[in-house]
Amino acid sequence: ADRGGTPGDLTGKRIVISAGGTREPLDPVRFLGNRSSGKQGVALAEAAAARGADVVLVAANLEVPAPANVDVRLVSSAADLERAMTEAAAEADVIIMAAAVADYRPSEVRAEKIKKEDTGDTLVLTLVRNPDILAGLAAARKPGQIVIGFAAETEADPGLLLELGREKAARKGCDYLVLNRVGWTEGFASERNEVRVLNRHGDIVIEVSGSKMSVAERILDLLS
Ligand code: CTP
Ligand code: CA
Repeated sequence: ADRGGTPGDLTGKRIVISAGGTREPLDPVRFLGNRSSGKQGVALAEAAAARGADVVLVAANLEVPAPANVDVRLVSSAADLERAMTEAAAEADVIIMAAAVADYRPSEVRAEKIKKEDTGDTLVLTLVRNPDILAGLAAARKPGQIVIGFAAETEADPGLLLELGREKAARKGCDYLVLNRVGWTEGFASERNEVRVLNRHGDIVIEVSGSKMSVAERILDLLS
């Protein structure tokens, strides 16, 4: 009942969406991860396909099933996700980076399990920065290609949250940034979402709260 959108208004548009959370391998049995469920990205993919778009879903460790009628490309680490997005972006009219990408990865991936007896009472890991995939895709975009990013912030004060979103919108160079507050209970596993969408100048173009599907529909309205 809370679905918006016009059936078929995205027909012919090729939309590439990343969803989920990356996992950065540490050794053959362990990874560093995050709490993204993939629900908002999957809702975007489902809604876009229902409106007639050709959808590629680059799926990183989803906790929910991928929708039917989309081309799913499974990835795990940030490096995998970057490769899959770069390949799919070559044929995309729209790129949406809803995935939670690890900012850092372990500096080395051990060939063998890390053993306590070799490590002792504390274990110090060295992490190195991952490339900013969204900023790279935005910088490399073809004429007419639309790039949409997400911003996950824990800031509770609405004014400061908006400031962080504006700074991030300016830094990323994307056309729109979906600003999302996340926390121990908000955001990830939730069925609902509350977002503001900023344009590249930091102006609020959408304010919506509701199911992740209704949020998806409003975001996709920017493309029709
Ligand atoms: N992103 C990305 N590559 C990264 C990190 C983030 O493409 N290495 C993308 C995310 O998919 C999202 C956007 O950048 O669309 C914002 O992610 P977020 O974590 O909110 O921002 P960061 O730029 O990583 O800044 P920070 O985590 O320090 O707030
Ligand atoms: Ca980050």
